[in-house]
Amino acid sequence: DWSMAAYRDTKIREIREQVGDGKVICGLSGGVDSSVAAILIHEAIGDQLTCVFVDHGLLRLNEREQVETMFRDHYNIPLVVVDAEEQFMSGLAGVTDPEAKRKFIGKTFIDVFDAEAKKIGGADFLAQGTLYPDVIESVSFTGGPSVTIKSHHNVGGLPERMNMQLVEPLRELFKDEVRALGRELGLPDQFVGRHPFPGPGLAIRIPGEVTKERCDILRKADAIYLEEIRNAGLYDAIWQAFAVLLPVKTVGVMGDGRTYDSVCGLRAVTSTDGMTADVYPFDASFLTGCATRIVNEVQGVNRVVYDYTSKPPGTIEWE
Ligand code: XMP
Repeated sequence: DWSMAAYRDTKIREIREQVGDGKVICGLSGGVDSSVAAILIHEAIGDQLTCVFVDHGLLRLNEREQVETMFRDHYNIPLVVVDAEEQFMSGLAGVTDPEAKRKFIGKTFIDVFDAEAKKIGGADFLAQGTLYPDVIESVSFTGGPSVTIKSHHNVGGLPERMNMQLVEPLRELFKDEVRALGRELGLPDQFVGRHPFPGPGLAIRIPGEVTKERCDILRKADAIYLEEIRNAGLYDAIWQAFAVLLPVKTVGVMGDGRTYDSVCGLRAVTSTDGMTADVYPFDASFLTGCATRIVNEVQGVNRVVYDYTSKPPGTIEWE
């Protein structure tokens, strides 16, 4: 695509101009956006870039390993993996308010990056894969007065004490454009086509208190759901699909015993930019198949529901 090739060259020039001979630290989330940002910046400035992947314990099943393989083996980009699960989990203990979760996670990401930046003798810039919809959604709600819907953890600037400037080469782009740029940069289709995953991770898919135990339950349910979607050949037809774990227990029956376990919600939407979304219309048999597998295979879940809410009025994530 000629326009993306040109865009890539322009951005590489801009990054070089902005950064000079400074050092850049880039947070990878495992998603397409931060990956594309990192690869682009690496093309521009090579080893002036240090990529940091924070394992906050809120990742999907095997996600950390997939990101390590992608960056170290496929791209040969040095990657620092920080095991920060304990730090995030202990800070999230007792936190149930969605904005409080987002704010704590955003702040803790910054703390972790700050610590990593110190380890490499200081960085002058922090790179992020912020997209255009992230920028506008955290500023105002379309058509209305200025209301914060959600504090996206990667938007809003940096605390002054950090003394780092932001490098956000994707700030003008929509998701489909980022994907085109990713292809231009040689990212495998399978990676470019990955569903978006929010920075705060599973924390905003577990309404109520987030614990390691609940994250483990959700990881299993989510992996089964996504496996079913891939097996049915539906992955690429869907913008984003994921499971949520509700802070609600219901009664069920398993074998000849009573169960009293959590409800798992399933969500799948189509969208072009995440700003609006339609519910993906699965066949009922597909959903009953997922429900059966999840209840049978995931200890701690005994009921599965499907979310039929479009955006608006619902948002894609539950928090
Ligand atoms: P909502 O839930 O606002 O989500 O309809 C729209 C899209 O944005 C993703 N999302 C985030 N991405 N940091 C991110 O990097 C965040 O804090 C965040 N919150 C939501 C969401 O997954 C969906 O694709």
